[in-house]
Amino acid sequence: MPADQILVIFGASGDLTGRKLIPALYALRQRDLLPENFAVLGTGRTEMSDDEFRKKMDKKGEGYDREFIKMLHYISMDPQNPENYYQLRERLRQLDHDFKVKGNYIFYLATPPLLYDTVAEGLAAAGLNHSEFNGGLKKLIIEKPFGYDLASAQALNVKLRQYFDESQLYRIDHYLGKETAQNILVFRFANGIFEPLWNRNYIDHIQVTSSESIGVENRGGYYDTAGALRDMVQNHLLQLVALAAMEPPAGFDADSIRNETVKVFQSIKPLSPADIRRNVIRGQYIGSKIKGETIKAYREEKAVAPDSRTETFVALKFFIDNWRWGGIPFFIRTGKRLPTRVTEIVVRFKNTPHRLFRSIFDEEAGTNQLIIRIQPDEGILLRFSLKQPGSGYQVKNASLDFHYSSLSDGKLPEAYERLIYDCMMGDSTLYTRGDALEACWKFIDPLLDAWKKDDTIKVYGYPSGTWGPEEADALLHSNGQTWRYPCKNLTDDENYCEL
Ligand SMILES: NC(=O)c1ccc[n+]([C@@H]2O[C@H](COP(=O)([O-])OP(=O)(O)OC[C@H]3O[C@@H](n4cnc5c(N)ncnc54)[C@H](OP(=O)(O)O)[C@@H]3O)[C@@H](O)[C@H]2O)c1
Repeated sequence: MPADQILVIFGASGDLTGRKLIPALYALRQRDLLPENFAVLGTGRTEMSDDEFRKKMDKKGEGYDREFIKMLHYISMDPQNPENYYQLRERLRQLDHDFKVKGNYIFYLATPPLLYDTVAEGLAAAGLNHSEFNGGLKKLIIEKPFGYDLASAQALNVKLRQYFDESQLYRIDHYLGKETAQNILVFRFANGIFEPLWNRNYIDHIQVTSSESIGVENRGGYYDTAGALRDMVQNHLLQLVALAAMEPPAGFDADSIRNETVKVFQSIKPLSPADIRRNVIRGQYIGSKIKGETIKAYREEKAVAPDSRTETFVALKFFIDNWRWGGIPFFIRTGKRLPTRVTEIVVRFKNTPHRLFRSIFDEEAGTNQLIIRIQPDEGILLRFSLKQPGSGYQVKNASLDFHYSSLSDGKLPEAYERLIYDCMMGDSTLYTRGDALEACWKFIDPLLDAWKKDDTIKVYGYPSGTWGPEEADALLHSNGQTWRYPCKNLTDDENYCEL
């Protein structure tokens, strides 16, 4: 049970609070995981009373019980007005007294990112960043995106550390809150059978795919300034790579685990300008027809520039230069308007040294793959070869299939439930440390820079409902491999183009 606390949310009138944070808190309450004395204080410029905030949070009629609703409070304040932090301080003093929480506060930054340092500064100026105010621990949760490039991420780290100690900072990566992401560590380090094979001697390559079937929806304005590399690869997908590639930590505490993930990021071989041209493929969805329905091109989406070169798809090949992974390629692929929504890690093992059985029944036969499905239908799938029943020795691929839901009676906890709970418990294992974040940006920055400066680097158009530009397939073909396709293209449209 976490210590008694108040969760202060900045930007509480926004989408994230109503759609993710409050439902996560309610789910924790249903699991009896909220502190005995607990309150939420939402803040925002929008004028609202406590009652109006409570109604807004329960807009969808989630059926929150009365006692939970009574934990929700609101104060109108402009985060850019330093004076307002003194009103916040007074309100906290009152709530602290009413709920007897003894000065333990979590400040959750659910505002647009340009306000992160302003809020940290305002809190510090009002003395809300350390235990001198009411005693207790003060923590700061920061939403993504954390920086726009290496320089801005470093600048934000410097600013935040001016007011908060690194141990008080919790940088959210909601992929790390997913059960199956955490399970990678248990799967690797609690079983004796896979870890001996988990290296360059037995693994041919590792692929990480994260696809969405939807487009940018109403987030065109944000997305057009970000793109798939910043939105998905820099944070979530490199974190998954780290879990798959890291060395066993010395212990299962936050620092030991995060030390190992940082080492992975620091060992990623930087991509040279030639590598960026050859091994990083960016794409953008163009219109197509899926089952008779016309799908808009990215450039026709709301708030997207009609000549935008922002990538809605990226695939890349890179190497981790260390003892375990020397010479083994890693591939990442992510995009919008792909045939299905899936996130998975595919560990492709090397073939047997000699091909004894020549009669292959299906095209995957003879290849061993371990597929760690992060979402949806979380689970683990092992593909291996067996004899096709009947005469002769025809080889066919078969699966050992495990669904994570079978381990749990109810539904799996949402990422935000786990992350907020961990922060309350003071466990930062699943939060990104500042040095890891900067190491990821160091890898990504040259790619963004090259795209910005060099117009001759192509943006490939791919029809919505396909697995991205054909050039992304060629990345693996040059390695004698193919991506794993969790399902087929939804459209036969062959209208690939260069934008
Ligand atoms: N929504 C998601 O699913 C999601 C997922 C991952 C990460 N995030 C991140 O989480 C954060 C919050 O997301 P969100 O979707 O809830 O954002 P949002 O709805 O755009 O903004 C949250 C609140 O911030 C306040 N705000 C907006 N512009 C402001 C300004 N210029 N000055 C002061 N306050 C301002 C607004 O409240 P007032 O007008 O009342 O002040 C707004 O309701 C963002 O950084 C986002 O990148 C969101």
